[in-house]
Amino acid sequence: MEYTKSRTYDRQFLLDNMMGPNPIKMLEELTELPGMLDLKLDMRVLDLGCGRGLTSIFLAREFGVQVFATDLWISATENFARFKESGLEHRIIPIHADVADLPYADEYFDAIISIDAYHYFGREEAFADEKMAPLLKPGGKLAIVVPGLKKEIHDDIPQEMLLSWDAEAIETLHSPKWWRELLSKSQQMELQAVGELECYLECWDEWLQCNNEYAISDRKAMENGAGKHMNLVFVIAAKK
Ligand SMILES: C[S@@+](CC[C@H](N)C(=O)[O-])C[C@H]1O[C@@H](n2cnc3c(N)ncnc32)[C@H](O)[C@@H]1O
Repeated sequence: MEYTKSRTYDRQFLLDNMMGPNPIKMLEELTELPGMLDLKLDMRVLDLGCGRGLTSIFLAREFGVQVFATDLWISATENFARFKESGLEHRIIPIHADVADLPYADEYFDAIISIDAYHYFGREEAFADEKMAPLLKPGGKLAIVVPGLKKEIHDDIPQEMLLSWDAEAIETLHSPKWWRELLSKSQQMELQAVGELECYLECWDEWLQCNNEYAISDRKAMENGAGKHMNLVFVIAAKK
């Protein structure tokens, strides 16, 4: 894939605001998966765990959707300043909230998109039915990308991974098969696709070039071969 949209974004702006592997490339690939997401002008989209809002900017700019840019670690005021600078404050609403207590009406959203965040809070079986499905219109989509694993390794974690991450952090990472099994148990969401994104290496290379302290600490594992165990997993489900 060429990532023609992502390549138009200012490199320094991205490096200054990334919180993990390049999120807009992941989002570009996710939104171009054939027949999966059909984002249209003025649809309401929840960008869940939006961090510094790069993905919210991409969604508003590329699709003209109305984005509710929701995050816990980054304040709404900080994100509002970035959205104003991008000229998109009329399309993106910054919200500071915890997924455990989201301030939205039932059946409000056409789609919930979550890039590099769902693995922190969405690993329990009941989460999709209790927290995601109520917010979606019937037929609305849940589309996530998470850093993941080629296969489950938790019983015998490779030493190179422990150079940057502890077992608790590694516990958040799972294989496509694991995510498929988790979402298949949902009563209210119908699983549509699970797989690996192509942009894995590019997204990680760009992240490791950042001066973000977490990028610097991730370099040790990646320079020692941890990347061969990892991938970027996407999951798409529709509300029944
Ligand atoms: C690695 S950052 C990724 C941010 C952004 N999606 C990106 O890719 O640049 C993970 C984000 O998940 C958010 N997050 C983690 N737990 C959360 C929770 N319980 N409620 C809301 N957001 C949460 C954090 O605030 C953080 O910004």
